[in-house]
Amino acid sequence: MSRPNVYVTRKVPEQALEILRSVASVTVWDREDVPPPREVILRELAQAEGVFSLLTDRIDAEVMAAAPRLKVVSNFAVGYDNIDIPAATKRGIVVTHTPDVLTETVADFTVCLMLAAARRLVEADRYTRDGKWKTWEPLLLAGQDIHHATLGLIGLGRIGAAVARRAQGFGMRVLYYDVVRREDLERSLSIAYLSLDDVLRDSDVISVHVPLSEHTRHLMGRAQFALMKNTAVFVNTSRGPVVDQRALAEALASRRIFAAGIDVFEQEPVSPDDPLLKLDNAIVVPHIASASIPTRIRMATLAAENLVAVLQGKRPPNPVNPEVLAK
Ligand code: GLV
Repeated sequence: MSRPNVYVTRKVPEQALEILRSVASVTVWDREDVPPPREVILRELAQAEGVFSLLTDRIDAEVMAAAPRLKVVSNFAVGYDNIDIPAATKRGIVVTHTPDVLTETVADFTVCLMLAAARRLVEADRYTRDGKWKTWEPLLLAGQDIHHATLGLIGLGRIGAAVARRAQGFGMRVLYYDVVRREDLERSLSIAYLSLDDVLRDSDVISVHVPLSEHTRHLMGRAQFALMKNTAVFVNTSRGPVVDQRALAEALASRRIFAAGIDVFEQEPVSPDDPLLKLDNAIVVPHIASASIPTRIRMATLAAENLVAVLQGKRPPNPVNPEVLAK
């Protein structure tokens, strides 16, 4: 029997390619710095049984319609808002993702952004390099405290809960809002559930951990920033469109809030002309919260394992639409 075709939409760690090559004939988009253009995806998937996709690839109903042999879309990410799940389910295509293996790494980076934004780390580095440091000054580059501050988590899934555990080490009081209440975690982590508005009003640090969907798009807008303290530090490591970026830039520019650490943007890559990039009180980084070397390798191998399992007719470790498997 001929080997199935798998298209990989970027150069990914070799360990993952080895897993794929053990069962399939593998074609890899050979650029690291740009995703394949849409016409390439449409052309390559015409013959493919599996696609190893990145969050930069839009795998929608049109792509699936052009891919009659497609059995599996394996996303190299925990988020899968780049994939039309109902369209996949309708066609019997299994979609998989890479949860769990990145949880602790993303939580580490979230705390890193909290601390860096609150204590003005990047601004201070720039100040020192620019030769501006003349003497010790009582309030030079003074920021906000994280220890014993109140942390407001918007979303208490795997990553939100991992951030809450780290916050305990800083003696923080933790509040959360989510559409699903987690009374088990409220007890085990001593955290309190409040309405979204109350979390925003009461918190010193606010960190967003929700998936992107039509319910969460622009969950954080002008009205939400208006509720925050003017000392608040805002962090987003989830998805850019969850935040109205223009409203965030306005809140930072007018000092309505103190600072922000932003890993994800409404448009990625963010335009060099974006107002956020002009602000000293915003730390901006290119969607790297899960980017530790071991975690990115583990995500890649897990995505490969998911893909291969489906091609072999087995249950993949991380299906997004398991109802397709039950059919
Ligand atoms: C990264 O943003 C991911 O969803 O894994």
